[in-house]
Amino acid sequence: MPPSNITAQKRTEAPRCHCVPLSPGKKFKSLTEIMKTAKKCELDDEDFVDVCCEECGSGDQEEEMLLCDKCDRGFHIYCLRPIVVRVPAGPWFCSRCSGKEEVRAFPLRQTKIMEFFRIQKCMGGGAEKCRASPDVRRRRKRPAYLGSSKKSRKLLPFNPTEDPVQRLEQMGSLATALSALKMEFSNELTYLPAMAPRSANRAMLENGGMQVLSKEDAETLELCQTMWKHGEWPPLLVVFDSLEGFTVVADGHIKDLTLIAEYTGDVDYLLNRENDDCDSMMTLLLTEDLSKSLVICPDVRGNIARFINGINNHTPEGRKKRNLKCVRYNVNGECRALLVATRDIAKGERLYYDYNGYEHAYPTHHFV
Ligand SMILES: C[S@@+](CC[C@H](N)C(=O)[O-])C[C@H]1O[C@@H](n2cnc3c(N)ncnc32)[C@H](O)[C@@H]1O
Ligand SMILES: [Zn+2]
Ligand SMILES: [Zn+2]
Repeated sequence: MPPSNITAQKRTEAPRCHCVPLSPGKKFKSLTEIMKTAKKCELDDEDFVDVCCEECGSGDQEEEMLLCDKCDRGFHIYCLRPIVVRVPAGPWFCSRCSGKEEVRAFPLRQTKIMEFFRIQKCMGGGAEKCRASPDVRRRRKRPAYLGSSKKSRKLLPFNPTEDPVQRLEQMGSLATALSALKMEFSNELTYLPAMAPRSANRAMLENGGMQVLSKEDAETLELCQTMWKHGEWPPLLVVFDSLEGFTVVADGHIKDLTLIAEYTGDVDYLLNRENDDCDSMMTLLLTEDLSKSLVICPDVRGNIARFINGINNHTPEGRKKRNLKCVRYNVNGECRALLVATRDIAKGERLYYDYNGYEHAYPTHHFV
């Protein structure tokens, strides 16, 4: 048995790596890198038994086999549902041993939802009045943008669902998903004392420069934020799929170039998260001096962006599914990551973007 196989199955301590991670999951090292430097386990011959995957029964591809740290049963990372993209740096427990609870639906009660999302009431009325508010409209200053936006590539604000019952279901679906992961809702970047300070988020430090969000697009972002705060959201539902885990579906038509969400969470230094097993980290700032690079970590706090799945960018079918892109912009000197529709999206379509914005650092070859 080659030592590398043993190394993979026993998941020896992963080496620290200074490669530049990108997009959600970027903090992982490639398996080849892990193999090159990971310490090898000393095992006596009689200690070693071939392990077969509990799902497919095969003992092949041992380098992609995970052993449960409690029951020692084996599973190919790609046979697990939802799949695990890379061998985790820390301990891993199979579903039986992790004792995960069933996903419990969030109560669809207006007051509960308002409380969960800390929705602000408009002065003298409900959320509907906010959208129609002349103040909000005036700030848009964008006559006839719908017709000309495609040519000029201007961002469009999202169009919330009119039906209040449907809107409650949309919010309930996100509350269900966030609660299942024990996450708190947050629609903006959070800066905590133990992590990176807000002053570390300087777009001018981006290696090669960061595109500046135009004044008009910044107004669209501001308008969307006002709508979000008042419970006016894009028509989206979070659903659970046995193959892909949580995933986001359009619950109404979404036009090309519509701003869907801002990628939010706690901002931290990339170097603090090198061995972090969170699979949803997003690059925020990539600096020449890596110690200044930042990531968004939506493991404690986050919004719907954290539930949007990625395409398999190794197959033409995978690439065809892409209907969003994640773009980082300089907004008033700070970096922000926005998810924007790249084509019209029909009601019922799932949302996908390419987790590998710049290079193939995120392993998507097992993605459906
Ligand atoms: C940013 S999270 C997306 C939300 C995730 N599906 C969940 O249930 O929390 C990234 C993880 O989702 C899963 N995932 C994303 N896109 C996928 C796809 N196309 N097929 C299968 N799994 C996918 C992988 O497990 C990946 O590590
Ligand atoms: Zn298998
Ligand atoms: Zn187990």
